[in-house]
Amino acid sequence: SEYQGLHVGGEGRVHRVMESTLTARDRVGVQDFVLLENYTSEAAFIENLRRRFGEKLIYTYIGSVLVSVNPYKDLEIYSKAHMERYRGVSFYEISPHIYAVSDNTYRAMRTERRDQCILISGESGAGKTEASKKILQYYATTCPVTDHMSTIRDRLLQSNPVLEAFGNAKTLRNDNSSRFGKYMDVQFDFRGAPIGGHILNYLLEKSRVVHQNHGERNFHIFYQLLEGGEQDQLSKLGLERNAQKYHYLVKGCCPRVSSINDKSDWKTVRKALTVIGFHEEEVEDLLNIIASVLHLGNTQFGEGEDGETQITTESHLTYLSKLLGVDGPALREALTHKKLTAKGEEVSPLSFEQAVAARDALAKAVYGRAFTWLVAKINQSLAFKGSSSVIGLLDIYGFEVFQHNSFEQFCINYCNEKLQQLFIKLTLKSEQEEYEAEGITWEPVKYFDNKIICDLVEEKHKGFISILDEECLRPGEPSDISFLEKLEDTLGGHAHFVTHKLANGKTRKAVGREEFRLIHYAGEVNYTVNGELANQSVICQSDNQILSQCFHREEVTTQKRPETAATQFKNSLAKLIEILMSKEPSYVRCIKPNDAKQSGRFDEALVRHQVKYLGLMENLRVRRAGFAYRRRYEAFLQRYKSLCPGTWPNWQGRLADGVATLVQHLGYKAEEYKLGKTKIFIRFPKTLFTTEDALEARRPALALTLQTSWRGYRERAKYHRIRNAVIQSAWRGMKSRRKARRRRHAAEIIRKFIKGFIYRHYERCPENEYFLDHQRFSFLMTLVRNPPKSVLDKSWPVPPPSLTEASEHLCRLCMQNMMRAYCRRIQPEWKKQMEQKVVASQIFQDQKDSYPQSVPKLFVASRLGREFNLKVIQTLGNDKVKYGVAVTKYDRRGYKARPRQLLLTSSFAVLVAEAKLKQRIDYTALRSISVSSLTDGFMVLHVPSEDNKQKSDVVLQCDHVIEVVTKLATMADKKNKVNISQDSIKFAVARGKEAVIDFTSGPELKVAKGKKGHLLVTAPQLNPR
Ligand SMILES: Nc1ncnc2c1ncn2[C@@H]1O[C@H](COP(=O)(O)OP(=O)(O)O)[C@@H](O)[C@H]1O
Ligand SMILES: [Mg+2]
Repeated sequence: SEYQGLHVGGEGRVHRVMESTLTARDRVGVQDFVLLENYTSEAAFIENLRRRFGEKLIYTYIGSVLVSVNPYKDLEIYSKAHMERYRGVSFYEISPHIYAVSDNTYRAMRTERRDQCILISGESGAGKTEASKKILQYYATTCPVTDHMSTIRDRLLQSNPVLEAFGNAKTLRNDNSSRFGKYMDVQFDFRGAPIGGHILNYLLEKSRVVHQNHGERNFHIFYQLLEGGEQDQLSKLGLERNAQKYHYLVKGCCPRVSSINDKSDWKTVRKALTVIGFHEEEVEDLLNIIASVLHLGNTQFGEGEDGETQITTESHLTYLSKLLGVDGPALREALTHKKLTAKGEEVSPLSFEQAVAARDALAKAVYGRAFTWLVAKINQSLAFKGSSSVIGLLDIYGFEVFQHNSFEQFCINYCNEKLQQLFIKLTLKSEQEEYEAEGITWEPVKYFDNKIICDLVEEKHKGFISILDEECLRPGEPSDISFLEKLEDTLGGHAHFVTHKLANGKTRKAVGREEFRLIHYAGEVNYTVNGELANQSVICQSDNQILSQCFHREEVTTQKRPETAATQFKNSLAKLIEILMSKEPSYVRCIKPNDAKQSGRFDEALVRHQVKYLGLMENLRVRRAGFAYRRRYEAFLQRYKSLCPGTWPNWQGRLADGVATLVQHLGYKAEEYKLGKTKIFIRFPKTLFTTEDALEARRPALALTLQTSWRGYRERAKYHRIRNAVIQSAWRGMKSRRKARRRRHAAEIIRKFIKGFIYRHYERCPENEYFLDHQRFSFLMTLVRNPPKSVLDKSWPVPPPSLTEASEHLCRLCMQNMMRAYCRRIQPEWKKQMEQKVVASQIFQDQKDSYPQSVPKLFVASRLGREFNLKVIQTLGNDKVKYGVAVTKYDRRGYKARPRQLLLTSSFAVLVAEAKLKQRIDYTALRSISVSSLTDGFMVLHVPSEDNKQKSDVVLQCDHVIEVVTKLATMADKKNKVNISQDSIKFAVARGKEAVIDFTSGPELKVAKGKKGHLLVTAPQLNPR
């Protein structure tokens, strides 16, 4: 199937273009932003995105960066066939796709043996997780696997539903929002088969365990368990199959979501846990924790008689102690009292609010640690020790800005700040490296370096995190307000840091008294300062294997206080950056087109915001700083070689010289391009577009040249050209439409033809009309192309029935024509010859044996040379001798043979012997001529014997009897008087007396006297009659 669409040229011109079945997508706009003429214009950028999105083209490149817009519906572009299509295909040859990035990365890993990573970023709901899953699926499907590896492959794939069950939740933006950052290494062996993996998780949004905003849910796993768990399993956990019953599950008031099927998801998760290799007991422990969180949520507090806080929900406490494997009284005390570590084992009671907070903190901690354990467990099952190449996938949430932004948002945004820095650094670095490798001078690029913001956050001693640590770790209660003051003291005056107090005028109004504002590279964000307390000690005594592995006793007993969450995060982030730096990065930048999760809606303001937050314009600027376009010489030459006589059809020399010749011919100006070692660099898209236009113009002519003999080749070439196409062009649209039309037309004709064939023997009717016409046409065309070559060529095509008569006429006409033409061409000499031959044939054909042999021998003017006797000539007077030949004369009596010459003139013949005229035969007196039917040379000239002047009949023998008789008969006008006798010739000897010559066939010529005075002639018979 072919699609038709629009293409925006460099100047915003719109062309119609066609794509082949292979790309199966028409496209709108440029498929690579570097080809935007106005690359600094955000409006042009967004317009390009919008147009493509409108045509369901969700992917666009910025150089090697893939920009993806969430379509919010299944586009059917992720089939196995699609995967195959992108396998081993050069990045730019085919329309942008997540598979192109996957494949390119994979091949870079295999061929260059360098570890790779794909960084996927974007807002919540922009399609990051989907993208990472698509990449993983691509590898799972296209990489080679053995039986053992298929287990690993399955585990890699199955880790997703498990992690999503525990780490994803329905939010306002995304029904399946990942609430943790994830970095996953996929390890490949030397054959390129997946052999292992490792997952790093970041920043699980633990607050969701105890609270959800309106319209949001807790983590999927809770609802899945309640919906899908078996009844006796639930009973064992003390749970009811009703999410409404659990406080932690209904904060957002939407335990049910139409797009989610918790029951079937539960089945998937259970199966996945088995595939990954979880034991039954481990699953049980995991479910105990899930259940305990729900029981914690339902644990209520009241006021005792002495005003002390006490637990009012005993049943939950019982289940809790059972599920967590913790002693009941200890648990009760932990929830209502606080351990003062500074003073040994002493405890102090908690207020109601404190107890509630402690409960929630415990729930969060339990869940959070269980999640970490889960990841570790998955890692165990994916672990591979040994040498391998790695592709890392980073799926981490992008910039987040809410009304109130807590510490979690701070971490997320800080992380994005770091990733942006990495991105700029690596992009610039790779640009620079490429220029260097190609021997092209590097021109410095202006860009915003966000290092200043990163430093603001992470610098030792004076950075935000250092100050936070200091505040948390100093003796006494950490207070939010004192922390804010400390920040103001240290960071005040920094261009990217503002508080209510530091700000002035308008800004002051926008920043609350308990907030500070960071001016991130992507925008301004206000953060609220709030601390966090958790009483974690009780869990350390847990019997639950998972919990006891998660909570280490030392953590609470040692005097050294643990690192703050911020420092932990900073360290893990530093480690991540280190991991990423050691790899070659690719980028997928996800954009969400609207907030309503609707397909087909493109909210420009929202997209503009993301384009800004993702730093895409910055990215484009860096990428376009030097040269917009670069291609390897062979690719460039292959595509445009037809534009220059010097390079068409093939360039034999060095590629670089070929490209130089080509661009010189095209009139590229020096500032427009540079030639590197293996690539041509073109500065402005316009140059490329002009070249592309020239190619368009050239194409029809090319096509025509190639059409006849190179059709097959051309189709392939065309297919390649289409794949190669960066810019599509108008004529192609036309051409493909024409082709489609032709194809339709062809099908129609074939149908007619078949029908006509079936009805061919019927009278002419609409069914066979076409066929009959075609038959007639092709008969006539065959004649035209292949007429008979000569008069002797008797071939003639078989006419269709309706043309039988016409065919006969034509054949006759054709022959006549050829004859006429032949005659007109003929020379007088030849004509004479032919006339004589015709006479010969009239007389002898099929009558005399020696005739056929005589046909190819030309008749000559005379058989005698200069041996004519002059005297004889004089004697003959005016009658010029026309022909002379040596003959043997046989006497009528006794048959004595005498050599003579026979001379023919226009009115008589004479026999001459040694210059003496022996006998004259006037043609008027010549009655007839007799010859035999055999191969002998005898002839008898019958002359009336009454005439005195004439002697009687003459018996002659001659080697050229056919020639002589023909000439004589012609000159004497006696053509009808030639007798051809089968076996004997009677002739007159004298008045009234006759003699006979008998002819018989024998092996050789013999002349002898026979009985009764006959002459007996034996002659070989050549043609049996
Ligand atoms: N390529 C895609 N094709 C179709 N739907 C998609 C695609 N990417 C994302 N979606 C839809 O958007 C939702 C959110 O995507 P997700 O990857 O979970 O976002 P993120 O991880 O960025 O928060 C998905 O559940 C899915 O319905
Ligand atoms: Mg996600």
